Amino acid sequence: MNPSTFYLHPSSYVDDNVQIGENTKIWHFNHILPQTVIGKDCSFGQNCVVGPRVNVGNGVKVQNNVSIYEGVEIEDDVFLGPSMVFTNVINPRAFIQRKEEFKKTLLKKGCSIGANATIVCGVTIGEYALIGSGAVVNRDVKPYALMVGVPAKQIGWVGISGNTLEFSEDIAEDEFAVYRLVDDNLEVRRK
Ligand SMILES: CC(C)(COP(=O)(O)OP(=O)(O)OC[C@H]1O[C@@H](n2cnc3c(N)ncnc32)[C@H](O)[C@@H]1OP(=O)(O)O)[C@@H](O)C(=O)NCCC(=O)NCCS
Repeated sequence: MNPSTFYLHPSSYVDDNVQIGENTKIWHFNHILPQTVIGKDCSFGQNCVVGPRVNVGNGVKVQNNVSIYEGVEIEDDVFLGPSMVFTNVINPRAFIQRKEEFKKTLLKKGCSIGANATIVCGVTIGEYALIGSGAVVNRDVKPYALMVGVPAKQIGWVGISGNTLEFSEDIAEDEFAVYRLVDDNLEVRRK
């Protein structure tokens, strides 16, 4: 760890055996646990806990009050809204150790999770998907899907821009790409 290449507010703790990329900013009252790897250009707001053994990609933005537990993997450019919640045990009991049963949760590149959403462990959220505030995600989410509700259901598609896509004859576009609906999935051609 080379603290000169990233910003660490004095109120935050970084444990041993942690890697943090350059230009990452860790603001007030955060705790990064051992064997966690955080990429460059990330930011962690206030009151976040990350790890142990968690990988966070580059350019990830984490808002206040988010705990990223073991079993969660975050790819590049992911947005985690304030007070969203991960889980890592599907059937927790206070009196049974379930560390060996942590389920993997994967957030693919560029996806966004709204404020106060909950991600039930074991799911994969596809790239650039957008999860509305307060949703509970308990199934895999397709790339570019717009999901809301409890349990979360798909109500549309979003582009890389994060804007809802309007289709005309199965084609939509935003400033980043052209999107084509094929068999209820999006084919994406970057501009
Ligand atoms: C999901 C979201 C992106 C949809 O925005 P939108 O495309 O403008 O959609 P609309 O507001 O037109 O809503 C479309 C429908 O979804 C519903 N809806 C929108 N957001 C919802 C949510 N979070 N939960 C449940 N339903 C929601 C609307 O009520 C509407 O339903 P209707 O067609 O029956 O009236 C947005 O509402 C949202 O939740 N954004 C996340 C905000 C956030 O948490 N930001 C974190 C950083 S501060």
